[in-house]
Amino acid sequence: MAFPPQFLDEIRTRLSVSSVVGRRVKLIRRGREFVGLSPFTNEKSPSFTINDDKGFYHCFSSGEHGDVFTFVMKTQNLTFPEAVERLAEEAGLEMPQQTPQDIEQAAQGTRAREAVEAACALYEQTLTAPEGRKALEYLQGRGLSAETIKRFRLGYAPGGNVLKSKMMARGMKEDVLLETRLLSPGKDGRESFDFFRDRVLFPIFDLRGRPVAFGGRVMAADEQPKYLNSPDTPLFHKGQLLYGLALAREAVAQKKEIIVAEGYMDVIGLAQAGFQNAVAPLGTAMTENQIELLWRMSPEPILCFDGDKAGRAAALRAAERALPLLKPGLSLRFAMMPQGKDPDDICRREGPEAMAQVLTAALPLSDIMWRQLLAEHQTDTPERRAGLKTAALAKAEVISDGTVRDQYRYLFQERLSELFRPPKAAWGTGRSTGPRRGGREAYGRPPAPLPPAPARRIVSDTTLARRTRERILLATLLNHPGLTDRVEERLGSLTLADSRLDSLRQNALMHIAQNPELDFAALRAHLARLGFAEELENLLNSDVYVHAAFAREGAPLDQALAGWEHTFVLCQRADLEADLRRAELELAENPSEQAFAAFKALQDQVRPVGEEDGEDLGFSEAKS
Ligand code: UTP
Ligand code: MN
Repeated sequence: MAFPPQFLDEIRTRLSVSSVVGRRVKLIRRGREFVGLSPFTNEKSPSFTINDDKGFYHCFSSGEHGDVFTFVMKTQNLTFPEAVERLAEEAGLEMPQQTPQDIEQAAQGTRAREAVEAACALYEQTLTAPEGRKALEYLQGRGLSAETIKRFRLGYAPGGNVLKSKMMARGMKEDVLLETRLLSPGKDGRESFDFFRDRVLFPIFDLRGRPVAFGGRVMAADEQPKYLNSPDTPLFHKGQLLYGLALAREAVAQKKEIIVAEGYMDVIGLAQAGFQNAVAPLGTAMTENQIELLWRMSPEPILCFDGDKAGRAAALRAAERALPLLKPGLSLRFAMMPQGKDPDDICRREGPEAMAQVLTAALPLSDIMWRQLLAEHQTDTPERRAGLKTAALAKAEVISDGTVRDQYRYLFQERLSELFRPPKAAWGTGRSTGPRRGGREAYGRPPAPLPPAPARRIVSDTTLARRTRERILLATLLNHPGLTDRVEERLGSLTLADSRLDSLRQNALMHIAQNPELDFAALRAHLARLGFAEELENLLNSDVYVHAAFAREGAPLDQALAGWEHTFVLCQRADLEADLRRAELELAENPSEQAFAAFKALQDQVRPVGEEDGEDLGFSEAKS
C-alpha cells in the first residue's frame, strides 16, 4: 500500500525520533543528538545515536539505521503499514483513505519529483556545456567557485524550448511538466513552452534536499524581472520552505546558529565565505511557518537586513510577525547591514570577518520593537509620552505566551521609566523635561548624552514595618493628590523595598509631574493601564488604614500631611539606623580611618524622632 509522501512527512514532523525511541530506550542528550544503549544488540556502552533534525537513528554496533517507521517496525515486529497506522494514531492524524485516486496521486508525486530532478540535472549539465558558457562566466564573475556552483547545483536554462524537447524525448508527460511548472501553458490554444529561458538557475530544495522548484536570474543588468521564481506547485509551497535549508542543516547543527538572508545570492555568498548555516525566504516576507521552521533548528535565528529604509521596514515586518509567536527561549535577532549592502557584498568585498562583526552586533527582537516605538512617538509632551506608553504596552499584549509577555511588559516599563525619569534636581521644578537615554535612540538619531544617574540609596530596612510604612506613604498620596507639591520631592528621593511598589511610585510621580491638574481617578486609571491594577487594589483596600486612618480617602488634608511626614521620617530613620548598624560592623571588622568617618557621619544623622516610634509603627495617634 502506498501512503502519500506528505502524510508520512507529517508524521515525521510531529513525532521526533527521540520521542518514539525514548519510550523503549533511555536516552541522554549529547549536543544536538541523543545517545543510548542499542535496542538491537546487548551492549554495555551506548553506541545508539539519534538525530532529530535529520530524523534518523543509527546504531554503530549493529549498523541498524532508519527513521521512526523502521524503528517501530523493527522493535515491535510490525509491517510498514502497521507501523504507519500506529504512529499516525500517536501523532493524532487520521489514516488517509487509500482510494485509487490517492494511489494515482502518490504515483504522480513521484513522477513530478523525477521530472524536477531530471530538469535540475539537465540545467546543471548545460551550465558547463558550450551553450552555458555565458552563464558560467556570469557566476564566476560573481566570485563563485566550482565547488560552490556544485554544492548549490547551479545551472543554466537555455533559450527556446530546449527543456521541453529533451524531456519529452525521454518520454516524460507534458502534464507532469506543466504541473511542476517546468513548462508554462500556452495561451489561446498555443503550445506550452519552457518556463525558464536564458536564465541562470538556482534550484530550490525541499527539507530533504530534493529539488522541487527554481529561481532564475537574468544575466543582463537591465532585464526584468531580475529573478523569476517557480510558482507554488504540489511539490513546492514558498511559504513553507526556506532556500538553502537542507544544505545548511549540518552547519546549523555545528554552529548552533542559523542566518537568514534576503536572497539566493546571499545564501550562496555566505556559504562560500564559510557561513554554510545560511538560508533565505523565497522572495516573500517571512511567514509564520518559516519562523517555526527556523526555531526547529536554532532558538534565535539571526535575520540579516539591509540598513536602508526598506531593510528596516522588512526587519520590522519580520519582528511583528514573530511577536505573537515568541516562546520562552525562542526569539529572533536582527543584524543590520551597512546601508545598501547585502551579505553577499560584505562577504566578497570586505571578507568573512566583516560579516562576522555584523552578525555579532545583531540586536534582540525586543530592541527592534523598542526602537520602533521611539521612532514612532515623540516624547516632548505629556500626551505624547502617554501615547508612547500606551503603544509600548499594547505591543507587549500581542505576545500570546504569558511568560514572555510579562517579560516584555517589565522591559518596556523599565525603559519608559528610565526614559522619563527627570534628573534629580528637576523634582518640583522643571516638570516636563524627560531626558532621553543614550543607546536607546531611534534609528539614525545620534544618541543623547546620559543624564546624571540620580543618587539612589539602597534600602536598608526591608522589614514588614518598613513595607507597611511604604504602602502608607503611597496610599496617602494616591488618596490625596493635593499633597503632591508638599511630598513629591521627598517621595522621589525614597527607594521602596518592594520593587513593584517602587515602580508604581516612580510611575505615579512621573504622571503627577507631567499632569499637574490630575485627579485621583485619572491617576489610578493611568497606573492600572501600566499594569499596576493589582498593586493598587492591594494598596487602597488594605490594612494600611488600620495603621493610618489619615491615609484614607476623605481624611482631612492637614491630618494626611502630618501623618505622611511622620511616616516618612520613620522610614528615613529606619534606613539610617540600619546603615548605622552596618557601618558599626564594618568598623569592627576593618577599623580604618574611612570606616570610622562613615560611622560617625551616620551616628550624627540619627536623631530621636519621638516617643511614639514603637512597634505599633507609630500611627496609633492617628487612628480614628
Ligand atoms: P535582491 O534583488 O536583493 O537579490 O532580491 P540579491 O540576492 O541581492 O540579487 P543579486 O545579488 O542582484 O543577484 C532578494 C530576493 O528577492 C527575490 C529573490 O528571491 C531574491 O533572491 N526577488 C528579487 C525576486 O523574487 N524577484 C526579483 O525580481 C527580485
Ligand atoms: Mn545581492
